[in-house]
Amino acid sequence: MKKMGGVSGAREQLAAMSGILFFLFIFSFSTVSASTEQNQIYIVYLGEHMEAKSKEVIQEDHHALLLSVKGSEDKARASLLYSYKHSLNGFAALLSEEEATDLSARTEVVSTFPSEGRRSPHTTRSWEFLGFEEGLDSSEWLPSGANAGENVIVGMLDSGIWPESKSFGDEGLGPVPARWKGTCQGGDSFSPSSCNRKVIGARYYLKAYEARYGRLNATNGYRSPRDHDGHGTHTASTVAGRTVPGVAALGGFAAGTASGGAPRARLAIYKVCWPIPGPNPNIENTCFDADMLAAMDDAVGDGVDVMSVSIGSSGQPVRLADDGIAVGALHAARRGVVVVCSGGNSGPAPATVSNLAPWFLTVGASSIDRSFDSPIRLGNGKLVMGQTVTPYQLQGNRAYPMVYAAHAVVPGTPANVSDQCLPNSLAAEKVRGKIVVCLRGAGLRVAKGLEVKRAGGAAVVLGNPPMYGSEVPVDAHVLPGTAVSMANVNTILKYINSTAKPTAYLDSSTTVLDVKPSPVMAQFSSRGPNVLEPSILKPDVTAPGLNILAAWSEASSPTKLDGDNRVVKYNIMSGTSMSCPHVSAAAVLLKSAHPDWSPAAIRSAIMTTATTHNAEGSPIMNADGTVAGPMDYGSGHIRPKHALGPGLVYDASYQDYLLFACASGGAQLDHSFRCPKKPPRPYELNYPSLAVHGLNGSITVHRTVTNVGQHEAHYRVAVVEPKGVSVKVSPKRLSFSSKGEKKAFVIKIVARGRRSARVNRKYLAGSYTWSDGIHAVRSPIVVLVA
Ligand SMILES: *[C@@H]1O[C@H](CO)[C@@H](O)[C@H](O)[C@H]1NC(C)=O
Ligand SMILES: *[C@@H]1O[C@H](CO)[C@@H](O)[C@H](O)[C@H]1NC(C)=O
Ligand SMILES: *[C@@H]1O[C@H](CO)[C@@H](O)[C@H](O)[C@H]1NC(C)=O
Ligand SMILES: *[C@@H]1O[C@H](CO)[C@@H](O)[C@H](O)[C@H]1NC(C)=O
Repeated sequence: MKKMGGVSGAREQLAAMSGILFFLFIFSFSTVSASTEQNQIYIVYLGEHMEAKSKEVIQEDHHALLLSVKGSEDKARASLLYSYKHSLNGFAALLSEEEATDLSARTEVVSTFPSEGRRSPHTTRSWEFLGFEEGLDSSEWLPSGANAGENVIVGMLDSGIWPESKSFGDEGLGPVPARWKGTCQGGDSFSPSSCNRKVIGARYYLKAYEARYGRLNATNGYRSPRDHDGHGTHTASTVAGRTVPGVAALGGFAAGTASGGAPRARLAIYKVCWPIPGPNPNIENTCFDADMLAAMDDAVGDGVDVMSVSIGSSGQPVRLADDGIAVGALHAARRGVVVVCSGGNSGPAPATVSNLAPWFLTVGASSIDRSFDSPIRLGNGKLVMGQTVTPYQLQGNRAYPMVYAAHAVVPGTPANVSDQCLPNSLAAEKVRGKIVVCLRGAGLRVAKGLEVKRAGGAAVVLGNPPMYGSEVPVDAHVLPGTAVSMANVNTILKYINSTAKPTAYLDSSTTVLDVKPSPVMAQFSSRGPNVLEPSILKPDVTAPGLNILAAWSEASSPTKLDGDNRVVKYNIMSGTSMSCPHVSAAAVLLKSAHPDWSPAAIRSAIMTTATTHNAEGSPIMNADGTVAGPMDYGSGHIRPKHALGPGLVYDASYQDYLLFACASGGAQLDHSFRCPKKPPRPYELNYPSLAVHGLNGSITVHRTVTNVGQHEAHYRVAVVEPKGVSVKVSPKRLSFSSKGEKKAFVIKIVARGRRSARVNRKYLAGSYTWSDGIHAVRSPIVVLVA
């Protein structure tokens, strides 16, 4: 059994420091409550269905297996939570440790693993920023027939939906696609008629949640697909929200036309994330493997084309065969479903990225070209730029006294958090009527504003510690307030130091577009390398995830804090949870334009057309001022329009993934497949990026591209070698005479001067690009020399 206390405690700390509202932290409690409950939920994974069987027979097989360890029919039936039977074969059941061990030894069982709880971690402007200036609904740039994804169904695994939002209206949409087999499940405040031709299906899954926590507390969540949290509504509207003019966040910020990336696509809602009982059930959410697997299995059976999963993995990386999201996604991919996952918000430390399997897309987060400028006038006349979307303004146009939080804490506040404005840390007599300068780091950003308000402060200025550099997430604080970069908070603190009576005034905020440079990688975005399989580069791409406006649940508030009773229809959020649905929407458009493409081909198109340059044509930077690279953004920032015509794609099949898994951790993922004695190395998977970990001497890598452009095409390769590493691609030219034709090539990688190449054991970055004068098919290369 896994105990995750230590590691995940550290994770939570890290994540809390990333300061994004709720979903940042990866999970932190043990799944076992040993004192009261002997049994816990295990997933017993049986691989692929070996032969066509009815659903009843499959379920009977699962019963038989359970019966063999439980000893009685009644016990077996009572312990079974879910039978997975549409795509993968397996079940979730309450088992003792011995029963789980016993089952895992059976030949028909691929793996047995505890059902972990995960965090759901982890719009207007973002689509224009991605090149959709002309408006999405017209979609003139899409091939005829694609119709902004109207024929595509996207499954959202999240916290449910607020179906009354204008973003989910169905005016002008055609009938529900005939192939749809899903349902609209009624429940608390949600009836089957809550679905329409936009939200065509909705279900909820909480057996594993309730087995762990007891019955859902109706104060904090709806026992139905209705979203109490806001996260699920936000992500769903980012993928497929209708084009709604005149939308803005609280206070009128970010005003404009809200639209999802695929405004005519159909949504199928799978609610799998629920509030964690405890001091702040509105903020903490969990999503259990067993519930998610049931949702993924149903989604495949229902007929979704794309699955969007803004959910982080558990604290410790586990083998792919023991990872619920990875197992569910593998079988979804086999059936043609594109799965897109968030990479997590635990950056900028290396090796923090989660969702690591090669059969889905893993997404990092970056900024867009919009800011919410709110100038701070210091008493010495200096102007410092902040950013905010708080709807409140200081009274009068006069200077307010200003104080640094560390100088205004109650006795007993630990020195290392004295500048953090943690709950009950500020001394009222020292902050009353003042602007209080707090730092990001520990605790929620919005909670710092709440603490300043509690102690009687007039406003909050939230400064970045060094790790966040220039990345400024904005919040709808509960009082006047603004946020500043590391450089700007240093200016403010120097000023405070320089005078006995520091003062300042916060000017009102305006929404500014065309901010340069953009995009910039968010510091919170989790970074590579991939700790599970360093030969697969993760994240795959980056997409807008900083300060994204999208629809919100009216049962929630913009901060989700206790005591914040404000209701908003649209809200600004930051996280890889927000960038993931941007890529899901791109996948919807690709699926719509190219219904016959495999999930791997769609992933390839998105990756090989991504850019490593910002809108000004310079290399994309991190928010700390360093140049970003593949460990930050994978192949780069998505360009959905380019992805529609990638020229060539790197395809991969279910068999290829099984072969990959044989070499990667020796995992046999399915009984239908026998691993060869010497499986090819993991980097031999036909992946659109190339990562080599521990290069010793030389290696040869094989790749195959498929022509999806014109019938006749002639490509040449251009290589950018990583420093100290030789990269030779042969042949150097590939000629195609028909569409669908495949061509193989090899890449020989040699560590040149070993000594120079191993400097600091750093990953060295390069790339190779196939180009025919129209298309540029780029693959990043990262090499770690042994
Ligand atoms: C349900 O949640 C509310 C609000 O958090 C709390 O006051 C109440 O005690 C909870 N009820 C139960 C049965 O736990
Ligand atoms: C502050 O110090 C205490 C005690 O040394 C430690 O437990 C805590 O994690 C530290 N907090 C932060 C945010 O560094
Ligand atoms: C402010 O002054 C203190 C003590 O004089 C010093 O330690 C600190 O570095 C100063 N801060 C800034 C930002 O100058
Ligand atoms: C590299 O390979 C050589 C020969 O196979 C071996 O002796 C050496 O230990 C390897 N070096 C590293 C750093 O793995």
